[in-house]
Amino acid sequence: MSALDLRTVIEGVGARLLALLQAADDRSEPVVRQASPDTLALAFQAAGAGLPIDRDQAPTGTPALLAAVDEVLRWSVRTLHPRFFNQNFAGADPVAVLGDWVGAALNTTQATFEAAPVFTLMEREVIAGLAARAGFATHEGLFLPGGSMANLHALQLARWRAQPDSLRTGKVPGRLVAFTSAEAHYSLGKAMALLGLGSDNLVAVPTGPDGGMDVVALDKAIRQARRRQERPFFINATAGTTVRAAFDPLRDLADVADFHDLWLHVDGAFGASALFSGRERHRMRGVARAHSLAWNLHKMVGATQQCAAFLVREPGLLGRVFGGGADYLFQPDKPHAGLDSGDLTYHCARRVDALKAWLLWKARGDAGLGARVERAVDLAEHAEGRILADDRFALAAARGFTNVLFWWVPPDLRPLDLEAPGVAPRLHRITTALKDRMQRDGQTMLSYMPLGERPNALRLLCLNPATTPADVDHVLALIDGYGQALPRPV
Ligand SMILES: Cc1ncc(COP(=O)(O)O)c(C=O)c1O
Repeated sequence: MSALDLRTVIEGVGARLLALLQAADDRSEPVVRQASPDTLALAFQAAGAGLPIDRDQAPTGTPALLAAVDEVLRWSVRTLHPRFFNQNFAGADPVAVLGDWVGAALNTTQATFEAAPVFTLMEREVIAGLAARAGFATHEGLFLPGGSMANLHALQLARWRAQPDSLRTGKVPGRLVAFTSAEAHYSLGKAMALLGLGSDNLVAVPTGPDGGMDVVALDKAIRQARRRQERPFFINATAGTTVRAAFDPLRDLADVADFHDLWLHVDGAFGASALFSGRERHRMRGVARAHSLAWNLHKMVGATQQCAAFLVREPGLLGRVFGGGADYLFQPDKPHAGLDSGDLTYHCARRVDALKAWLLWKARGDAGLGARVERAVDLAEHAEGRILADDRFALAAARGFTNVLFWWVPPDLRPLDLEAPGVAPRLHRITTALKDRMQRDGQTMLSYMPLGERPNALRLLCLNPATTPADVDHVLALIDGYGQALPRPV
């Protein structure tokens, strides 16, 4: 059993990671090498570091540990690859990656100024910068582990506003109901359940043809709830829905929220980054009137997972609602106690995500971050144009922003008539079969998803600045090739 040679491990892993970053736009590498769980287990075993943690796990030596890292790199999905279109994040900026490395090496918690003096100041500055871009006249906020967590925090603030003593008593007289669009992120329902508010009490408001919430339907649903003696307390507006990247009409929703005196939260986990771009920021008009805003920098602008900001317009609320007052940690008489951020959230230890956000923003500037957003929209426009001009493909939903939803159409169904008997179920099956082929081939990765009553569609979104129009064309040609190769009839 050999002792770990830390120097060799550090230098070996460092060299591999730098090579990974430098080869990010190497198109000769696959996006993924598809492997079954058995293949993966065998690969690690062959490398000398099997996946199971043994009953009495002996220390693993340097060569086997480095070989295991090689297997991790070999079999993991390359989200940095210019032909990775699968998720609503892609192409992590190397500056953010390096920020994560520095943060991990310093391994501290964001909770107190004492443990994280620099990161505390950086978090405050980044939050202030985001609040300024959103037009918040006043603000407070912090980084949380994800947009889902930000949505949960917003619901908790709104519940407190509706029934302040509920935090202490656990009781909420009547039935609190929240409203969101039918296309909103699934975290809202889960957060309602988690907070004991009940996912049945989240009303799914219909959306219009562009995927944005129907404001008239929202107003009607609120009035109906009131007539039933329920207690509306919260509206979630989505800025950039997960499937279609649709924006709810924020100004109209702010009017409705004001009129009915409800908390307005904007889930801008995906789309709030439009605020970095002079050209795209109009989509967020009205956000300054929101009570709270979720904004993931790890989706559109290249921060690494996770980098999720949560902003609240009214300073002081977070501490009132989330403060636990642990005096072993937040000693009120220590220097700079007022800078501690740990009691503004449910979490205790927090990662120093603010560091990579700060480094990224400093390195790229607003212009660089905005350019990423604009490039994603331009590439979506390019893809949409190609699809509209070619009867091998059909658009599955109107495109507003970055997400292009489409079907590959088999030769005997061209031009596509979705209403014709049997066509929709066939397209549904074809999309699934295409994804399977694509995954086995590994040259590109796109996700597919349901679209209400319509068949599953492929979703293309180009968030990696290394992706070019030629990559989009290449991927469409690949998809056509997979389609041609499908066994008939599908
Ligand atoms: C609209 C929207 N809100 C919230 C989330 C959740 O964010 P996270 O994955 O950071 O929890 C997502 C994730 O895709 C999203 O698309």
